Amino acid sequence: MPDIAFVKAALPKTGALVVPLAEGAEPAGLFAQADKDAGGALTRALEAAGFKGRKGQATTLWALGGFTKVVAVGLGKEAELDGAAAEAAGGALIPALAQDREATVLADTLAAPLAASLGLGALLRAWRFDRYRTREKEEDKPKLERLAIAAAEPNAAKQAFAPMRAVADGVFLTRELVSEPPNILHPIEFAERCKGLEKLGVEVEVMGLKELQKLGFGAMIGVAQGSQHEPRLVVMQWKGAPKNRRGAKPMAFIGKGVTFDTGGISIKPAGGMEDMKWDMAGAGTVVGLMAALAGRRAKCDVVGLVGLVENMPSGTAQRPGDVVKTYSGQTVEVINTDAEGRLVLADVIWYAQERFQPRCMIDLATLTGAIIIALGHEHAGLFSNDDELASRIIAAGAAVGEKAWRMPLGDAYDKQIRSDIADMKNVGGRPGGSITAAQFIQRFVNVKDGPMPWAHLDIAGTAWSSKDQPTVPKGATAYGVRMLDRLVAEMGEG
Ligand code: BES
Ligand code: MN
Ligand code: ZN
Repeated sequence: MPDIAFVKAALPKTGALVVPLAEGAEPAGLFAQADKDAGGALTRALEAAGFKGRKGQATTLWALGGFTKVVAVGLGKEAELDGAAAEAAGGALIPALAQDREATVLADTLAAPLAASLGLGALLRAWRFDRYRTREKEEDKPKLERLAIAAAEPNAAKQAFAPMRAVADGVFLTRELVSEPPNILHPIEFAERCKGLEKLGVEVEVMGLKELQKLGFGAMIGVAQGSQHEPRLVVMQWKGAPKNRRGAKPMAFIGKGVTFDTGGISIKPAGGMEDMKWDMAGAGTVVGLMAALAGRRAKCDVVGLVGLVENMPSGTAQRPGDVVKTYSGQTVEVINTDAEGRLVLADVIWYAQERFQPRCMIDLATLTGAIIIALGHEHAGLFSNDDELASRIIAAGAAVGEKAWRMPLGDAYDKQIRSDIADMKNVGGRPGGSITAAQFIQRFVNVKDGPMPWAHLDIAGTAWSSKDQPTVPKGATAYGVRMLDRLVAEMGEG
């Protein structure tokens, strides 16, 4: 991963040159100077190459005007130039610089926050997971070590970049957790990695099987009981509230952490089952969010809880037909052992409320295949009992390119999960599969002692990407980290 440095505006003497350009914009600043020095060769070559400045467009020119390599990246329409466009340009330059060790971006015509956003886009796109590659050819490895961003106000850009850098580190932690193979990242190892947040000032508590039994986490334990790996509940607390707001209720984030989901006795088909290593993406996102908040010293109190289990079939696995008692006291008839995420969340959500009385509660889970049928990979499904919270989440996501779409809840759907022998069953049939899953979770949102704003994000379609996106390389996306970091900034620190 390249170092991102903000430097004084000047043409570089070595390395590749990157020029971000808006659609139809006249050359300005350092680029105009370089073009003039080259007798207009740069603009002529860009024109001939069909470079228009469209958002995310990248064109490479070779051996012109004394530069070995010039990469033009599009900023889109000048009137619409915002952080997202600058990020996309930053992302687009990364594949074009795969073989360069250093490069300088001429960002002297960009306002400092946009120069910073460009750096963020580049950083987010440059991440890769290569821990398990031992024979990669030198020519296939990305070489970029340093990306200098030549800015009009390098200090202001650097300042704007600092919190972005912390959030990017949170994103990287999430992507790493989600990418790790399931033999390595089982619940115990996942909990160990959470402990790593202590060095950022997060308080981390890990609870094992004995404690969960004592608490009465019957639903979560039922899921875990088929596995050789014990379950873990991890509670992370970031206490960043300034003195005058200390003691206010925290915001709570809860993640589904199924480190591998075979389906259990209701076993999944073989094809594509390897994808179920990322069935802990909800938990991974909560951990990355806590890292982001702590990394940028967010000025509020936030708690993150993750329920970590492996869903395996075995002689000790739970059976379809089993009835389990949840931490809330409600009982569940387990019709399908593959509807396990909601069982984990049920116990953790109840615990989060009981222990922290949060001011709001947001859970994230790769919960249903049905949400992919409904929304594809473009939007996460958002379910909420609170209109204001829902619209704040949608707005925070839109601002960072993480889209969510509100889905309905209602009594008619809730009826689908009535059981003949217990308080509810864990599946509601195929119609509205994501909605009945959300209804199930809502039964563990305690509104008896007053309102409890709650939202559930079904991220089954957005946690993993099969293709490269401008600021998200294919693979683990860390969807939700940036959205919720922003939500906390607006709701908790604003
Ligand atoms: N982890 C899966 C959901 C999932 C599917 C996530 C595809 C990512 C990609 C979840 O535990 C599951 O198996 N859900 C079942 C529920 C069904 C049994 C009611 C599903 O969606 O089929
Ligand atoms: Mn499942
Ligand atoms: Zn699952």
